[in-house]
Order: sequence, then C-alpha cells, then structure tokens
Amino acid sequence: MSAPVPVISEFSGARESIPEGPIRIGSEAHKHLFCRTLLDTFNPYKPAVIDWPKLDPQVRDRLTSLPIWDIAVQTEGRARLNVACYAAVTCDPLLRKAIELNAFEEGRHKHVLANLVAAYGIGLEPEPPYVVQGDPEWAFMVTGYSECIDSFFAFGLFESAKRSGYFPDALVDTFEPVIQEEARHILFFVNWAAWHRRTMPLWRRPFFELKVLGVWAFLIWERIGIARNVGSGVQDNNFTLTGAKSVGDDIDVAALIELCLAENNRRMSRYDKRLLRPFAVPALARLVRRFMRG
Ligand SMILES: [Fe+2]
Ligand SMILES: [Fe+2]
Repeated sequence: MSAPVPVISEFSGARESIPEGPIRIGSEAHKHLFCRTLLDTFNPYKPAVIDWPKLDPQVRDRLTSLPIWDIAVQTEGRARLNVACYAAVTCDPLLRKAIELNAFEEGRHKHVLANLVAAYGIGLEPEPPYVVQGDPEWAFMVTGYSECIDSFFAFGLFESAKRSGYFPDALVDTFEPVIQEEARHILFFVNWAAWHRRTMPLWRRPFFELKVLGVWAFLIWERIGIARNVGSGVQDNNFTLTGAKSVGDDIDVAALIELCLAENNRRMSRYDKRLLRPFAVPALARLVRRFMRG
C-alpha cells in the first residue's frame, strides 16, 4: 500500500524566508531554498490512472525481456524505506516534510513500475523483505549517493532510447515525470548533504566525512560485485549498466557519456541557480570522456 500524499501547503509561507540575492550554503535560507524547491515542484500524478499505451508485439517483447524489472522494483522499494526512516528521525519540520515527500515519491515510482509490469505481463521474482540498511542517516546517504550515480546514467539512456525510437513516444512520456523526479531528488540530496555538513557540531564532521567515504566505498564495492555478475543471469543493482547493454550492443560509450552530461545539465537548469548541483559523478564522467578517443 502506498503512503498518503504528504500535505505540503502548511509550509507555503516559508518562501518569504528565501532572500533575493546570494545565499550562504548551510544557512537557514539555503535550507528553505532546497526544501521549497522539492516541495514546490511536486507533480501530483497518480500511478493508478496512467493509461499504459498498447504496444506492437515486437516492442512489447523488447520491453518485457529487459533484465531490469526485478531490480528496478526492489530498488524503489528499498529507497522508499531508506528515505522514510531518515524522515522519521528528522526534527526540523520543513526538512522532515521534504524528506517525507521524497519517500512518498520513491513509493510512487515502485507503484508505477508495478503497474507497468502488470500491464505488459512481465513476470517478477517474489520481492525480498525490505530492511533498513544501517542507521537512518547511513540508509538515506546510501540511497542518495546511489541515485546520484544511477540517475546520471538514466538521464542519458532515457534520452538515447527516446531519440532512437527504441521505445514509443507514449511510453517515454509516461516515464518522463519519474526521471525528472530523480533529478529533483539528487538536487535535494546534494544540498542536504552540504547543509547537514555545515550545521552539525564540529566534532561530528570527521565522523560524517568518514561515513561519506564509507558510503562511496560500499556503493563501488556493490557495483564491482555487480559487474562480475553481469552475464550470469542474476539481476543486480547496476541496472543502468544492464540497461545500456540491452538498449543496444553498438552503443558508443563516449557519445553516451556526452549525452548523460548534456541531459544532466538540461534537467538541472530548471532549478534555482543558487542551489548546488551534483558534482562527483559528472566530474568523473568528464574525466573519463577526456581520456577517450573520438
Ligand atoms: Fe525512485
Ligand atoms: Fe529518488
């Protein structure tokens, strides 16, 4: 069952706390800006009323044979739980409301995927029980940084599938709000991380930085393990890589990286310029691109 839509109107007056000019990262104004950006750009679509387009048998087969559905549904289920458990321990009312909305949207993504799976007759493995990974802050950071990696590649893959006509326009349009929501989530997350870092007591900072490193090490370890499993038939967390392999064997990696970078910029350009943008994954992608020929 999905959670009720969080009531966001009670914070509608908080816009007044955001000044016109520059804002300092870690300030109250910064917190208001990144929370309000998430809350004010909420898209109230309802998964239950999505009219799934009728597909040609060939397109339908292509869709149902993609080896990503189990992991996509499970990732959203885990994300909802990880984000919701951090919302539950967040004392600041505005921040808590924004994180609750983030959790609600993860649950809604799972709902969209479940409806798609049902509409096109895709068989799924039974879902494992979802358990919170580590403490609530760790769980929120695992989901946040994981989304920073996956969304960056999903932006490019989605655009690539759209341009190549791999999927029909109607299906692309149905998924557009989900992809843009992930852009909002990672924008919110990187600003939360910067704000959190600057507002915590100084003695906690070194522990937090160690935790950040721990999360990245965990995510890299997880993805290396996954890369080893590619081809074994086991679905894994690295569904953007699996998705890329499925979308086309002849995929040009350099062109895909450029497309990911361009799409990342385009999707982030809609939001207030004073907010921080995800940095690490695009920077790494630019570095890799520089060492590639052509
Ligand atoms: Fe999601
Ligand atoms: Fe998300």
